[in-house]
Amino acid sequence: MARKVTVAVMGYGVVGSGVCSILADRQAKTSQYAGCDIQLKRILDVKDYPDSIFVNLFTKNFEDILEDAEINVVAECIGGTGVAYKFTKALLEKGKSVVTSNKAMVAAHGCEMLEIAKQNGCHYIFEAAVGGGIPIIRTLRNSYACENINEIFGILNGTTNYMLTKMRYEGTDYNEALEDARKKGYAEADPTDDVEGYDACRKIAILASLAWNRFVDYKDIDVSGISKITAADIAIANATGNVIKLVGRCRMDNDKLYAMVSPVMVREDNPLAGVNESYNSILVNSDNLDNCMFYGRGAGRFPTASAVVSDIVDVASGLSPIYYNWKADETVKVESSDEFYSEFFVYVETDDTVKAEASVKELLRSKAQMIEIQDNELKTGAVAFTTSKMCYRDLKVTLGLLADMAGKVRLCMPAVI
Ligand code: HSE
Repeated sequence: MARKVTVAVMGYGVVGSGVCSILADRQAKTSQYAGCDIQLKRILDVKDYPDSIFVNLFTKNFEDILEDAEINVVAECIGGTGVAYKFTKALLEKGKSVVTSNKAMVAAHGCEMLEIAKQNGCHYIFEAAVGGGIPIIRTLRNSYACENINEIFGILNGTTNYMLTKMRYEGTDYNEALEDARKKGYAEADPTDDVEGYDACRKIAILASLAWNRFVDYKDIDVSGISKITAADIAIANATGNVIKLVGRCRMDNDKLYAMVSPVMVREDNPLAGVNESYNSILVNSDNLDNCMFYGRGAGRFPTASAVVSDIVDVASGLSPIYYNWKADETVKVESSDEFYSEFFVYVETDDTVKAEASVKELLRSKAQMIEIQDNELKTGAVAFTTSKMCYRDLKVTLGLLADMAGKVRLCMPAVI
C-alpha cells in the first residue's frame, strides 16, 4: 500500500484509549478497507502512561501533532469546549481532518468547525457524538437523502438509561446507580450533564440539525433530567405497567420545530421499554420510510471508540467531506415546549378515588384513559390515567382544575403508549 494516513489521538481517557486500542488491533483490517496504510503515530495527554503498550507515542505537547506534516487525521477525544475547541480549530486551519466523539463541541461550535474545515478542504465528522456505537449520523446523511423527516425520538443517554434500569430492576439507590455508571465509563466528566439531561439535549440538537439541515441551538431546547426521579416514582411506573425513560425528541410540523428532553412514561409493551442498561434507541419517522428504529450501545469505551475509528476509516478511504448547511446566526427557532403535542401520563393522589375518576372524566372526556393501579397500597389513594395527544399548555390548565376538584397531581410526564 503506497498511500499512508497518519493518525493522532488527543485525550487518552475512556474513548481515546479505546480508539488507540482498536486502531492497533485492527490495523490490517482498517487499512485494507480504506485502501491505504492507517498508522497511529501520536497520543496527546497530560498524564503519563508508563505501562501502556503505546508508551513511545505519548506527548504532552500539542505542537507535536499540529506541526507534524505527516499527521493528517486527528481523533479529538478530550471532551468539553475548552482546549478541545482551541486544538480542533488549529488543526482544521492546518488542513488536518478531525473526527470526534465530543458532542459538546459539535453542539456548541459545529457551525464554526465545519466552516473552517470547508475553507481548508478537510473533514470535521462526529459519528460517535450521538448514540455511541449506533451509526445514526452516517445513516441520516446517506440513507435519508431522499426522505422528509417528521420526527426523531429516542433514548440518547447511556448513563441515565443504565441508572433507570438499575433503579427499576434492582432497586438500586440513585447515587449508587450513578457511581456504578461512572465506574463503567458511561458518565461524562461532570455527570450533571447526564442526569440533568444536558447531554441528551446536545444530542437531540445535533440530530435535529442533521435532519433538517439547519443549525439548532441546544440552548433553545427545554430540558428536564432524571435527578428528581425518586424510588416512589419508579414504584408508580411499576404499578401502572410503565417504565420511566429519559427521552429526547424533535419534530418538524408545518415548518415549526418542536424539541425537548424529559423523562417519559413508556408503556411496558412498547419496544422503547425494553431498551435497558447503556443501550440507546433512536426512532426516526419520515415520509417514505415511515418508522425506523436504531438500537445499540449508547455509551462506553469500545462502542464509542468503534464509531470514532469508523470516521477515521471514512477519511482514510478518501470520501468527499460533508459540510452541512449549518449557520450559527441562522438557527431554527424552537417552539416552546408548552406547545409540544404528546400523550401524557398523570397520577393524582386523592382521598376519594371515585370522585377523582369522575372529575378526570368530566374534565377530559374521551381524552382520558384510566389505568388500573396494580398495587393494593397505592390504589386506595390514587388514580392514574393517560391522555390522548394534547399540548402541554392545555394539559397544565386541566391539571390546575383537577387539583381543585380531585386531589394532588403527584406525577405528570409525557407518555409513550
Ligand atoms: N455520557 C454519555 C452517555 C456518553 O452516557 O450517553 C456517550 O455519549
